Amino acid sequence: MSVIESSARARDTLARNHRTGYSRAAQRGYDFTCPSPDSYPFQWAWDSSFHAIALTHLDTRRARAELRSLLGAVTPGGFLPHMVLWQDDLRPRATADFRIDLWEGWRSVTIAPPVVARAVERVHRATGDDLWLRRVLPPTLAFFGWLRDHRTSPGTGLLEIYQPDESGLDSSPKYDGALGIESAAEGDVHGAWHGAMRSLITAYSSPARTPESALRERRLFVWNDVLVNTVYADGLSCLARLVRTAGANERTAERLAEESRAIGAALMRHCWDETTGVFHDLDLVAGKRNEVLTASSLLPVLLDSVPEPAARRVIEEHLLNEREFWRPHPVPSVAATEPSYDPTFRTGAIFRGSSWINLNWYLYWGLRRRGYHAEAETLAARTCALVAASDTTRECYGPEDAAGHGARSFGWSSLVLDLAAATTTELTEGF
Ligand code: GLC
Repeated sequence: MSVIESSARARDTLARNHRTGYSRAAQRGYDFTCPSPDSYPFQWAWDSSFHAIALTHLDTRRARAELRSLLGAVTPGGFLPHMVLWQDDLRPRATADFRIDLWEGWRSVTIAPPVVARAVERVHRATGDDLWLRRVLPPTLAFFGWLRDHRTSPGTGLLEIYQPDESGLDSSPKYDGALGIESAAEGDVHGAWHGAMRSLITAYSSPARTPESALRERRLFVWNDVLVNTVYADGLSCLARLVRTAGANERTAERLAEESRAIGAALMRHCWDETTGVFHDLDLVAGKRNEVLTASSLLPVLLDSVPEPAARRVIEEHLLNEREFWRPHPVPSVAATEPSYDPTFRTGAIFRGSSWINLNWYLYWGLRRRGYHAEAETLAARTCALVAASDTTRECYGPEDAAGHGARSFGWSSLVLDLAAATTTELTEGF
């Protein structure tokens, strides 16, 4: 029942959030799905990638257009921004509302987790459209090359981010210490976070910031994020397969596969904690691991390059642990054992305890790939039930009570369409 209801909510959202038009600033047409009509009217990179995956179950023309629009924002140097503000009429108000720095007037200067390669693979698999693949593969490869060249930490070999929202996990309590805000489960965390972000962005804005600004040297916020690196390593292995499919050269495919394995190995070397059996981010300014236990600590179970014993410990000691992440409506973005755990959205700040459908989606595939089939099915069923419990798709949900929070008609919660379909399909190479 909840599968039918959650799929109906997802279809409504994907219809309601569809945006098409022509951007004078960018001088091109656009055709994408916004994350939420009221709160997020533009194109956001990792949201859009999830939307395209959901759209493979509804409208493959739109799935292809979604990614072509997104990749139309890649710069000649290969940078793909987190936000693409196509709509000329909405841009002025939005730049006043959001804490963003724009690049050439219509793109953010920040990155998002590179989910786009996984989305390209999924859309190609759903459509078999080789011509489309030949068009979208070069900008996707360019972006991954840009990340390698401009965002690799010399010491660890992992990708680095220069502000918390580049991980997409904006107000996660794991960043509180680095931002100098008090780590709490109530009170005005939301306001404190915005203040800290404003200071960071102001500090970065002089001299004028470009996507390639040398921010590492500023030592304000330099971070190896486990989620970002897991998504990156996963994307590299998708690209290796896509390059082979497109009949491009085998050496490129092998190099991409090797880069993916190297990220997995670096996560094991620098982020894996043998004592607690989980992965931790690295705060490169403080020069230490960040030990706040969040859902991103679980994500590397997705990667084949993470050895089986480590993945089993993450799953059995943490993901399936009822005191931490296996709550009534899993998976909370922060472990229930953390003092900052905010399951009822009291702080009004995101990624501080609520369950998120995109993280559940990754963890569902992680469980399946590691052979935890019954647990994966339970997670898919509970995720669909969460989405069915509200009158529209919501940005995030209460892990104790299933209450919907944040933006309404929220795009990536439509990934329930993929979960509903997945439970009946065979596991293929690359989920
Ligand atoms: C919030 C989220 C970010 C997302 C954006 C649009 O800023 O933290 O991950 O991309 O909203 O949904």
